[in-house]
Amino acid sequence: MQWLILAFLIFPAALVTAQEMPPAAEVCAGCHGTSETLPIDPAYPILSGQQYYYLYVQLKDFKAGRRENEIMQGVVADLDRKAMKAIARYWSEQPWPRTAFTYDANDRKLAEQAVVSAECTACHLGGFEGNSRVPRLRNQQPGYLQKTMLDYKYRRRRNSPNMLALFKTVPDAQIEALARYLSGL
Ligand code: HEC
Ligand code: HEC
Repeated sequence: MQWLILAFLIFPAALVTAQEMPPAAEVCAGCHGTSETLPIDPAYPILSGQQYYYLYVQLKDFKAGRRENEIMQGVVADLDRKAMKAIARYWSEQPWPRTAFTYDANDRKLAEQAVVSAECTACHLGGFEGNSRVPRLRNQQPGYLQKTMLDYKYRRRRNSPNMLALFKTVPDAQIEALARYLSGL
């Protein structure tokens, strides 16, 4: 006990961080990163700071097989609803990590055309920070954004009928520009 108090006085920040991350979240952090580190692969999404209800719905969809991904279906196999809610809550309450993604003037031109014509901000909100069931896109990893929009377009991600219809007619090059633009906002 005395040792603990002493350790807390000397290393307060270290102790708090170590206590805060629940064991279940450490597994996620190994691939998705944390509020301080980016995911280990450009095609893996940031979870830290993402909308709570959106995260929970995705976990449920992976579990039910409505959203298909071999890795994530394995991850959620042993989680019940209560555990999925708790882990979604935990990640939604962490800050978004610092990112430094960039886009150029041509990306911006192509992206803004799509944003205006499909009214993305009606749902994702003006700064693309999302809300509840609608995910934050701002500063998300460009590799992941591109992959998942192409997955909607080519019907590999089928858990959201609205989004399927949306990308059907958007050219691949415009999707790539959108991904860079959203990540660099
Ligand atoms: C071995 C690597 C790995 C681990 C461990 C892992 N994930 Fe994932 N996760 C992925 C990949 C890859 C994707 C992207 C799937 C796709 O492209 O559709 C993903 C996608 C997701 C998504 C969808 C995000 C979005 O923006 O749509 C959520 C939510 C998620 N993971 C939550 C978790 C949680 C919670 C944990 C820990 C309990 C976890 N993941 C552990 C690799 C992993
Ligand atoms: C009618 C409301 C609506 C509109 C308009 C809309 N979205 Fe979405 N978007 C959603 C919802 C809801 C989801 C979550 C779908 C799911 O659960 O799979 C989503 C998911 C996404 C995702 C997946 C994010 C992730 O983390 O996996 C991307 C990328 C995206 N939208 C981009 C766009 C872009 C770009 C536009 C405009 C061209 C747009 N959306 C327009 C409601 C909308």
